[in-house]
Amino acid sequence: MSPRPFIAASAGLITLMAALTGCGIIGGQPADLQIYSARHYDLEGAFGQFTDETGITVEFISGDDAELLERLKAEGVDTAADVFMTVDAGSLWNAARLGELAQLESAVLDGAVPEDLRDPQGQWYGLAMRARTVTYNPDNVDPSEFETTETYAGLADSKWEGRLCMRDATSAYTQSLVASLIDLHGREKTLEIVRGWVANNVEIMSNDILLLEAIDAGTCDVGINNHYYLARTLEENPDLKVDLFWASPDGAGTHVNISGAGVVEGSDNPGDAQRLIEWLATDGQNPFVDGNHEYPVNPTVEPEPGIAAFGEFKRMPLNAEAYGDLNAEAVDLLAEAGYK
Ligand SMILES: [Fe+2]
Repeated sequence: MSPRPFIAASAGLITLMAALTGCGIIGGQPADLQIYSARHYDLEGAFGQFTDETGITVEFISGDDAELLERLKAEGVDTAADVFMTVDAGSLWNAARLGELAQLESAVLDGAVPEDLRDPQGQWYGLAMRARTVTYNPDNVDPSEFETTETYAGLADSKWEGRLCMRDATSAYTQSLVASLIDLHGREKTLEIVRGWVANNVEIMSNDILLLEAIDAGTCDVGINNHYYLARTLEENPDLKVDLFWASPDGAGTHVNISGAGVVEGSDNPGDAQRLIEWLATDGQNPFVDGNHEYPVNPTVEPEPGIAAFGEFKRMPLNAEAYGDLNAEAVDLLAEAGYK
């Protein structure tokens, strides 16, 4: 879920079936389910397995969250889409608020997905979880240096001057972290925190992988990263000098976000669409999340060994409404603080 280049509405159908069978149309018929998806990776394994198990065929139209939501709005009841799949809780909340998603009643989903990771009206469900937490070079930092109640806020302390690397203000990851801090602490205190990071001469990096490489090289001591980039980089280089610290263990916990999905209001196949989402939240959890080193949302499903090794953590309850509603305020606050 690295930010993707904007894909115009004319972007071609990226058909999974093309990958699986060499043909986007099965027996002259469109696939049973059309998925508008902002997830671009490892779709074949999970969805191929779903098709094998159920006989329900799927194909994808690919784009980023905002572009696909615009497309849904423009197409209205005529849309071919059955499922809307995003990489951000705020986007799901926005889609529901705009009336684009159907209300499901599903005991399976209510049992599989924790309450704060799904819509109370059943319009969307989180399916994969990622954590954005503190990473550091163990040669240069002792984890006892981290503030344990408010770890993100603690990085504003002057002891971190010249030691921080973080993502840019245009990153959705930065924005939803800051939106969650506004939700938690209010605007004034969050502005103070971000100003503190800036006062510490935070070095801004354009992606999470570069950030990890800078920590490994000792260019900076501490960063904030999505956990799966660390898992991915460690897989390639087990000697990487980067450890992870779960933020705010004695406070509100670590910031998380989700990939999730809902059934499109105008779907002509809502039954199969719901079945797909139910499968992804249960039997399909591991095939869906493991390829990208994400956490299952379903507490009965084990994370893959690579990320299980990071240990358990306390997660900040996810407030999708805040991620959706406070995004503009977060962008504004970052600018006011002089955070680039
Ligand atoms: Fe990503």
